[in-house]
Amino acid sequence: MGYLRIPPQSTNNSTKKKKSTKKQKIRVKRKIQTRDAKLFSVPTRMATAFSFAQTVLFSKTSLSLRTNALRSLTFCLPFSSSSAALASDKPHSKKWRQPVTSALELGGVKIAKDDVLRDDPTNNVPDTIFAKLGMQLHRRDQHPLGILKNAIYEYFDTNHSNKFDKFDDLCPLVSVKENFDDVLVPADHVSRSYNDTYYVDSQTVLRCHTSAHQAELLRRGHTHFLVTGDVYRRDSIDSTHYPVFHQMEGVRVFSPEDWAASGADATSYVAEDLKKCLEGLARHLFGAVEMRWVDTYFPFTNPSFELEIFFQEKWLEVLGCGVTEQEILKRSGKTNNVAWAFGLGLERLAMVLFEIPDIRLFWSTDERFTSQFLKGQLGVKFKPYSKYPPCYKDVSFWISESFTENNLCEVVREVAGDLAEEVQLIDNFTNKKGMTSHCYRIAYRSMERSLTDEEINKLQGTVRELVESKLKVVLR
Ligand code: DAH
Repeated sequence: MGYLRIPPQSTNNSTKKKKSTKKQKIRVKRKIQTRDAKLFSVPTRMATAFSFAQTVLFSKTSLSLRTNALRSLTFCLPFSSSSAALASDKPHSKKWRQPVTSALELGGVKIAKDDVLRDDPTNNVPDTIFAKLGMQLHRRDQHPLGILKNAIYEYFDTNHSNKFDKFDDLCPLVSVKENFDDVLVPADHVSRSYNDTYYVDSQTVLRCHTSAHQAELLRRGHTHFLVTGDVYRRDSIDSTHYPVFHQMEGVRVFSPEDWAASGADATSYVAEDLKKCLEGLARHLFGAVEMRWVDTYFPFTNPSFELEIFFQEKWLEVLGCGVTEQEILKRSGKTNNVAWAFGLGLERLAMVLFEIPDIRLFWSTDERFTSQFLKGQLGVKFKPYSKYPPCYKDVSFWISESFTENNLCEVVREVAGDLAEEVQLIDNFTNKKGMTSHCYRIAYRSMERSLTDEEINKLQGTVRELVESKLKVVLR
């Protein structure tokens, strides 16, 4: 959820540190480069970071789940692509792959490979990302992401008498207007950069959040809705970051009669309802947990909050939310209404609920992974199968002005695919001539088999070549 929180011009804001010291060092740097470390975060958080607006302890509620009658699963499978094939340690096979088709159908939109991998100077979508289109992990009832999605649906259906319309098949190709302008992301916001977002052309992106669908659905008259989908962000490589992940967006619109009787002003009424609703959701998913609300910043809501829960000895950010900016409603023709919205990352929650240690596992077709999860069973604990040893390789170079860590990670993913476990900056210095050197340690590891020295050396050789030719750096 970090991405959309950084207010414009304040990517250096210091925010709560949640990672290990080793990680923090890198994060500090990444804040400068990417939106990942709290892009849409927090002018007000500074003041409130550790003061809890609200700390509550709830009693445990049932975690039993009703199985949800989902729409039929109709995904067309991606094209084979040279680098995708290179990238994966086994060609994705079996169950979840269907024969290669000549066109994808996403949310009723037919998409050809050329529509996404355009010959356009602004296009920065690699084959490896294209290969993920249409996978729709969130629509698989036996996949942890599908199980979690269904559990959230169940909560809303039960507590809001089936009032929420559900969308989980909207096309991930959206306009820049939908992804950014319609949700009031400022023109100079770092999230719009080519370094952070996948552009198909200058006017079209792979959505970087499900908020991209808010305005359109409001315009179409929906007043209660949940949107689940795959979202795409150029990002670093580690156990919790993957350039494709899944989010769920929720929106509820209120009318004057809803708040009239309460005596409260509309914004307070709606904010209160939002908090109650989401605290209930957190209890539904996590049981009796301590929770706290943290004030934050999002371009599309005001006030904005994050919900955190105390789970397994740590504060865990569960979601971002707030009272929808009036301008968004106004533009959708809803002048007398007030609304709330929230967005949550499914992987982030599923990793905790199912104890899945590495985000790459969600994409695994290995039966030792897939067979562990059953429809309707939230929170089954993943049993790791043997962990193969990692292999570390370092690469050092003099960076150029245009160098970014996201670009490096893209090269590494292009070459090694899911064998790339982590890319970490381990050394960084500037010499007397003002030249800056970076040394990155790349951890290669398959979750399914042992890697040979030979293949790792080959991968590393290709990484070195591409780093030099594509990133305009000078190897040391
Ligand atoms: N779009 C935000 C993100 O990707 C998540 C989010 C936060 C969605 C607050 C919302 C919201 O609707 O109100 O980081």
